Amino acid sequence: MDAALEKRQVERAYELYAPVYDFIFDWIFSPGRDAAIRQLDLQRSDSVLEVGIGTGLNLPLYPPTCKLTGIDLSQEMLDKAVERVETLAMPNVTLKVMDATSMDFGDDEFDKALATYTISAVPDPVAVLREMRRVVKPGGVLVILNHFRSERRVMGWLEDLVAPVCTRLGWKSNLALKPLLAQVGLEPELIARVNMFNGWRLVKCINRK
Ligand SMILES: C[S@@+](CC[C@H](N)C(=O)[O-])C[C@H]1O[C@@H](n2cnc3c(N)ncnc32)[C@H](O)[C@@H]1O
Repeated sequence: MDAALEKRQVERAYELYAPVYDFIFDWIFSPGRDAAIRQLDLQRSDSVLEVGIGTGLNLPLYPPTCKLTGIDLSQEMLDKAVERVETLAMPNVTLKVMDATSMDFGDDEFDKALATYTISAVPDPVAVLREMRRVVKPGGVLVILNHFRSERRVMGWLEDLVAPVCTRLGWKSNLALKPLLAQVGLEPELIARVNMFNGWRLVKCINRK
């Protein structure tokens, strides 16, 4: 399956999910969201990039003093984020439709970057992480929150088994964390398990360039 087809699959999937996304992804996944924003350790006037911001469920967690840019491939998901920005009256937020594998930002534009529940939903996670590294300043912070392939044998095998179905639904069930980080030259400062059954991992890296 070629990358272009996968990108269309993601766009189609999130066009369908957008109206119902918040019902599923709000409360179940909120402990991880809180922990991810805490790990960003936001300072006054930090410039932050949120990759695959979706409907903007993290928006209420940002302090009003930081400058936030959110990007997403899906216009339908981003429309929901726009509504949320208006409801929350957040003039510090800019939202753009953009493919995270080739961002329209210059090098070292942001202090910090965050991707929650996104890295396994993008067609090319390596390209997205490389772009995150490029646009974040040296010494800046990258925080990734996601489900990754289990390191337990049976669970990992099950995740491999259901992978073709999950791919059709728009995400990868068996994305392995360590090879992914190694491919983009990131070394984690912290890996914590979060959410139900500790089934999701929160990864914090310093962008050493
Ligand atoms: C599971 S949702 C997560 C949304 C949000 N981060 C959250 O925490 O609820 C994955 C999001 O990644 C977006 N996405 C997938 N591929 C992308 C890409 N190449 N560039 C930007 N966004 C992408 C999807 O459109 C979708 O909104």
